[in-house]
Amino acid sequence: MTLSDFSGDAAPEVFRQRRELIRSLLNGGVMLLPSAPTLYRSRDTQHRYRPDNELYYSTGVTEPGALALIRGNKDPHFVLFVTGPNESTELWTGPMIGTEIAKDQFGADECYMMSELPDLLPGLIEGADCIHYRARVNDGLELYVKQALEDARSKGARHGSGPRAMVDPGGILDELRLKKEDYEIEWLRMAAQVTIAGHRAGAAIISPGVGEWTVEATVEQAFRSSAGSTVAFPTIVGSGSNGCVLHYTANDKIIDQDDLVLVDAGAEVGFYNGDVTRTYPANGHFTPAQRDVYEIVLASFESAIDKVRPGEPVTALHDAVTRVIVEGLRDLRVLRGSVDGLLEKKAYQPYYPHQTSHWLGLDVHDPGDYASAGTARVLEPGMVFTIEPGLYFRPAIAESLAENLSGIAIRIEDDVLVTEDGCEVLSCGLPTSVAEIEELVGLSR
Ligand code: GLY
Ligand code: MN
Ligand code: MN
Repeated sequence: MTLSDFSGDAAPEVFRQRRELIRSLLNGGVMLLPSAPTLYRSRDTQHRYRPDNELYYSTGVTEPGALALIRGNKDPHFVLFVTGPNESTELWTGPMIGTEIAKDQFGADECYMMSELPDLLPGLIEGADCIHYRARVNDGLELYVKQALEDARSKGARHGSGPRAMVDPGGILDELRLKKEDYEIEWLRMAAQVTIAGHRAGAAIISPGVGEWTVEATVEQAFRSSAGSTVAFPTIVGSGSNGCVLHYTANDKIIDQDDLVLVDAGAEVGFYNGDVTRTYPANGHFTPAQRDVYEIVLASFESAIDKVRPGEPVTALHDAVTRVIVEGLRDLRVLRGSVDGLLEKKAYQPYYPHQTSHWLGLDVHDPGDYASAGTARVLEPGMVFTIEPGLYFRPAIAESLAENLSGIAIRIEDDVLVTEDGCEVLSCGLPTSVAEIEELVGLSR
């Protein structure tokens, strides 16, 4: 599978329509969206460039060194600044686009060189009643925004106009990004498929004596060669008690005979992300204690999947998971007391310390409020999120428990789309049952 087999890319029309929507929500405001910075891993060595999600979502622009300005009720409504062709930069890092091409490619009304920004920006934001701009992401730009606010304050008494507020663009964009359009869902399906290919490849080489790093490399090799995709986040391969470290990334231990191996990995395809976790027994067979814990996590996972449908509050998923987990912890004699009492006290938290879900999209942890004014968000078709219950018996807190629980860490994570009448598990191509998980381990031995 290669990217050219897949035609889910957003057409310019998608971005034009989206800008119109943003404009209607801006009213008299102006939104400033800069490119993501170019990041360096040491002194002068650049990381591969990853575009800013808000800029891309709003305009399709993936260039570094750009700034998009969208105005609500004034023309020109879409002005783009680019850093433009620069021979010495292009020698090292490749072609850059200039103003003519950028204007045409992204459908800007006007396009200027970034060097013209100091002269043009004050006029472009003058008269806006609100500036939608993320504080502290771009010091240079922030100076102008603050200046505009200062000017408005000093002129306000005489002219009674001008920006009075700087607000986060997420106020508009987060809400729009929450429900995915059809082409976004296609990318997310693709990301889930590539993610599964990586998991299968990684599981197939898991075996006692193999380095966690080799599993990581195998998963990521499959990502790169499946669709030229990249990793959505640093791949987690935690064997033994390393699986208890929620965002473990060292991946530097050799897998032992009776270890569990927790693999949390995701591919990014077309800027959209997969995020899937499976936990494998290193030697292809869960011990009885590992299986007991696995079955609890799996039952909790399935109880959450059963809840996914339009109209259900997002909190119903975590509530379903924690109830099954508390029941399971009682069966294991880790917790004692009534289920409701234990839920009330959140007695599960030492063993299940994170939430069940996060939104998924251009960001792995995609933006969007989970509640407003104390009321949980209600699920709607087009929302995409993970379901990822887990149980972690960190040796430090498992001392008083049965010895065979210490160090066990299990997480099961899938990517889920809310549909008109329920849900589609985008990553369902990777099984979850005990028997099927055991089957996937070490196939390449
Ligand atoms: N892989 C990060 C997470 O599951 O949230
Ligand atoms: Mn996740
Ligand atoms: Mn994950």
